[in-house]
Amino acid sequence: MTKAVRVHKVGGPDVLIYEDVDVHAPGQGEVRIRQHAIGLNFIDTYYRTGLYKAPGFPFIIGNEASGEVVSVGPGVTNFHPGDRVAYYANLGGYASERNIAADKLVKLPDHITHEQAAVLMLKGLTVFYLLHKTFRVEPGHRILIHAAAGGIGLLACQWAKALGANVIGTVGSKAKADLALANGCDHVILYNEEDFPARVKQISRGELCDVVYDGVGKDTFPGSLSCLKPRGLFVSFGNASGPVPPFPLSELNNHGSLFATRPKLNDYVGKRSELIEGADALFAAVINGTLHVPINHAYALKDAARAHTDLESRVTTGSSILKP
Ligand SMILES: NC(=O)c1ccc[n+]([C@@H]2O[C@H](COP(=O)([O-])OP(=O)(O)OC[C@H]3O[C@@H](n4cnc5c(N)ncnc54)[C@H](OP(=O)(O)O)[C@@H]3O)[C@@H](O)[C@H]2O)c1
Repeated sequence: MTKAVRVHKVGGPDVLIYEDVDVHAPGQGEVRIRQHAIGLNFIDTYYRTGLYKAPGFPFIIGNEASGEVVSVGPGVTNFHPGDRVAYYANLGGYASERNIAADKLVKLPDHITHEQAAVLMLKGLTVFYLLHKTFRVEPGHRILIHAAAGGIGLLACQWAKALGANVIGTVGSKAKADLALANGCDHVILYNEEDFPARVKQISRGELCDVVYDGVGKDTFPGSLSCLKPRGLFVSFGNASGPVPPFPLSELNNHGSLFATRPKLNDYVGKRSELIEGADALFAAVINGTLHVPINHAYALKDAARAHTDLESRVTTGSSILKP
């Protein structure tokens, strides 16, 4: 038996049930891990509410974590009991112990803590591919990052700044603005109070942005398109306020021959070689000081409902973890 947070029906945070579950011995190609820290993600709320579909009920929610190998199943030769490991995966994360396919795991360098790894595997890898693959950020690029003080936001602002970009962030409060400025933003816009496209135009002296990274979705659309220079790239990577509504392609034409993409992590680091490339880049960025991992909130796993409430109420900043 182990403890896990399961969803038996979709709904609000109260559908997160902390309970005993059986974990079988690891099967072919699987590893059993005792988890030390679990990353809290906005994506977890999508599975809880049913915006993203789980394959069946009940399911264990959660998509990234870090821990220690307890035992390995047949055919696993590259992991051993005691190894420190971390992963991102579709579901199964909110648990004290779990089995997982060995090819999902990466080993942690000595200088990376479980807490850091638990928020780097989904959020960090996402920032890695957004800044290095979806659009290759280079010195001199002007970029807009929405929800700049969030989990993805603070990591993205830091890394984009280190890559030489001019970083504009949007945030929901003055306190978040201070945090974003301390984490790489050159300019911050309070998008609940200010007309953010007008402010971007003003800040950039009319030149606008090369790329907009938009994880907010419904509430920042179509304003995000107005922040892009001709042939700029609209990266819609999330739905914190709800999904972007369907729109005619002619909108991209109207705003200046724009490009648009709706990326997801698995399509960028789904191959083992890509996963290792991304994890190596992330761990190196933390170890060499490019990235500081702001873990601003910690909850007991049994308090997952409170963590979801805080995340959805926009109370959290940076990354949050659950402790089994
Ligand atoms: N496509 C991918 O591969 C991928 C992977 C990981 C995450 N994501 C996406 O990245 C985004 C950020 O994820 P995260 O886990 O780091 O979350 P987060 O940014 O820590 O939290 C979401 C933030 O969005 C802002 N927000 C704006 N409107 C909101 C609303 N109506 N309700 C709640 N929050 C609202 C809030 O910041 P303010 O108060 O400052 O507005 C809030 O703090 C999410 O959309 C997530 O789905 C995408």
